[in-house]
Amino acid sequence: IAPLRVGLLGLGTVGLGTYTVLRRNADLIAMRTGQAIEVVAVAVRNTARAQALLAPEVTLLSDPFALVDLPEVDVVVEVLGGTTVAKDLVLRAIANGKHVVTANKALLAEHGNALFAAAQAQGVVLAYEGAVAVSIPIIKALREGLSANRIEWLAGIINGTSNFILSAMRTQGVSFAQALADAQAQGFAEADPTLDVEGGDAAHKLALLASNAFGTPLQFAQVHTQGITQLTGEDIDYAARLGYQVKLLGIAKRNEQGLELRVQPCLLPQDHLLAQVHGSMNAVMVKSDAAGLTMYYGAGAGSEQTASAVIADLVDLCRSARLPAPLRVPYLGIQASALKPL
Ligand code: HSE
Repeated sequence: IAPLRVGLLGLGTVGLGTYTVLRRNADLIAMRTGQAIEVVAVAVRNTARAQALLAPEVTLLSDPFALVDLPEVDVVVEVLGGTTVAKDLVLRAIANGKHVVTANKALLAEHGNALFAAAQAQGVVLAYEGAVAVSIPIIKALREGLSANRIEWLAGIINGTSNFILSAMRTQGVSFAQALADAQAQGFAEADPTLDVEGGDAAHKLALLASNAFGTPLQFAQVHTQGITQLTGEDIDYAARLGYQVKLLGIAKRNEQGLELRVQPCLLPQDHLLAQVHGSMNAVMVKSDAAGLTMYYGAGAGSEQTASAVIADLVDLCRSARLPAPLRVPYLGIQASALKPL
C-alpha cells in the first residue's frame, strides 16, 4: 500500500513534535496500520530554520496555500493556530479533496459547523483529537468507546494553565500574576493568556466535547463562560479551610429543557476525583447510562503529547481508507438535534 502522504502546516512546538514522533515510531505505526505515514511537505515562515530540522526529501514551502494545493499531499495537518488564515487554508484543503487533521480548538469552536459541513460535502475527514486535552483520547472515547451510551453529563478540567494557577495559589501561596508568568514560562499558556484565565479556551474545548457527547452542532456561543481572574488567594484559602478546592470546570449537562453548557470556577470537596488533578494536568468525567461513571486523565498540552493525538487521527485515516466508502466512519458525528442550549 502506498504511504499516507502528509503536508504539515507549521513547524512550531506541535508541528515539530508531530514530525519527530512520526519518524521515531515509524516502524511501529506502519506495523499497526499496514501503511507508512510520511511527511512529504512542510510550510513554514522560516524555511532556513526548518531545513536544518527536516530530512532532505521533505519539500519546504514558505507559502502555506501552495502546500494545500500540492497534488502529492493526501492529508493536511494544520498546527498553525489562529482562526483567519487557518480557516482559509482548511477550507481550501477540503475543496482540494484532502483530509484535514487539526489541533486548532479555537478555529473549530468558532467555525467548525461550516468546516464540518464542507468536509462532509467533499467526502473528506476533518479530525481533531489534538484539539482537546491532548494526552487523553477523549474525542475517541466519546465517539467510539461510549458510542452505545446516552450521555447524561460531562465535567472536566480542560485548561491546564488555569488549573496550574489555582494549584500554585493553593499549595505554594504564590500570587495569580506570578503563577500565570510561571505557566507562560513553561509554554502551555495560549499566546493570548486571557483565553486561559477568562475561560475562553476551556469553552472552545467544551463546545467540541459537548457536540460529540450529545450529537449536536457546535454551540460555542452558548457556553456560559466565567474565568478565574476574580478569584483571590483568600477565596482559595477559605475554600481549603472548609474542605474544598476551587477548580475551573467545563460542564455539559443534558436536562429536560435542553443542554446546559458552562465554564466556571467550582468548589469541589477535597476527596472528589477531580480535586486530585493538579498542576497543568487535565481530566474529564463522563456520566453515561450504560457504562456509568468514567474518568480520563492526562496532560493537556505539550509538543509530543499533542503529536500523539494528531498522529492517532492519521492512523484512523489509514485504517478507515481501507473500508468500503459506505462503512467508513464519517468522523463528523455532528447532526442537527433537538437538544438546544438553555
Ligand atoms: N493553553 C492551553 C491550556 C493549552 O493551558 O490548557 C492546551 O490546549
